[in-house]
Amino acid sequence: MSIPDQTSAAEQAARQRIQACYELDGDAGRLARYYRAWASDYDLDVSREGYCGPKIVAELAGAMQTAYLGRERAAISILDAGCGTGLVGVQLERLGFRLIDGFDLSETMAKKARRTCVYRHVRGDVNLNGPLSDYPNASYDITVSCGVFTQGHVRPDGLRELARVTRPSGFVIASTRKIYAEATAFEDEVRHLQDAGVFALEHCLKDGILIKEDRAHYWIFRMTHCACMPIEERR
Ligand SMILES: C[S@@+](CC[C@H](N)C(=O)[O-])C[C@H]1O[C@@H](n2cnc3c(N)ncnc32)[C@H](O)[C@@H]1O
Repeated sequence: MSIPDQTSAAEQAARQRIQACYELDGDAGRLARYYRAWASDYDLDVSREGYCGPKIVAELAGAMQTAYLGRERAAISILDAGCGTGLVGVQLERLGFRLIDGFDLSETMAKKARRTCVYRHVRGDVNLNGPLSDYPNASYDITVSCGVFTQGHVRPDGLRELARVTRPSGFVIASTRKIYAEATAFEDEVRHLQDAGVFALEHCLKDGILIKEDRAHYWIFRMTHCACMPIEERR
């Protein structure tokens, strides 16, 4: 096989692995097995496909800190929900953030994130389709999530838990694959949390690049001053 053939075969395999992850069904065991098998190829696969979600999410966090939070970046605490191998953490660290925690459903992906050495603490086996029991209310200035609100992964109501762990006047920044936002009740969930006075939609970058041939919406939610979730709204 010539070198161009090998390259295109590798690109095709990467594309297939990316595509197959959207065909999962939200089952925690299946997701964890899929990502355990993909962990070693993940970074190369997504970089071949021009994945720029982590850079966009980190830069939005940087912009919110500069525009609104007032304190220096190194003192802003950030939770990276569904951190995977740590691509978002690496971008956040590049921008000067230092207090970065992460969690992921897959312990194998979480292990790779720990090896980046940019996180304070990374937990594996944490499922955002349920309560984040180890994370107290209002414990982070900014919560970010990239590539997680997507088909077969996390349901829209995962947003409630991200809001719950974020401080009043802090930010939740999340990407949704465009087709996920259109096919699920994500926007209903946003409206519900806005109507309940939990957060306000600060901005949404619509149809931004996610990977080469795929688009995402990038959402920025600003927690209200007294962002408190009515108890019956929690999971
Ligand atoms: C496409 S990857 C994105 C990883 C990383 N945020 C990035 O941008 O490279 C999706 C990640 O979400 C994690 N994930 C999927 N379902 C999850 C769930 N229910 N709770 C927590 N993490 C989940 C997967 O294990 C995987 O690491």
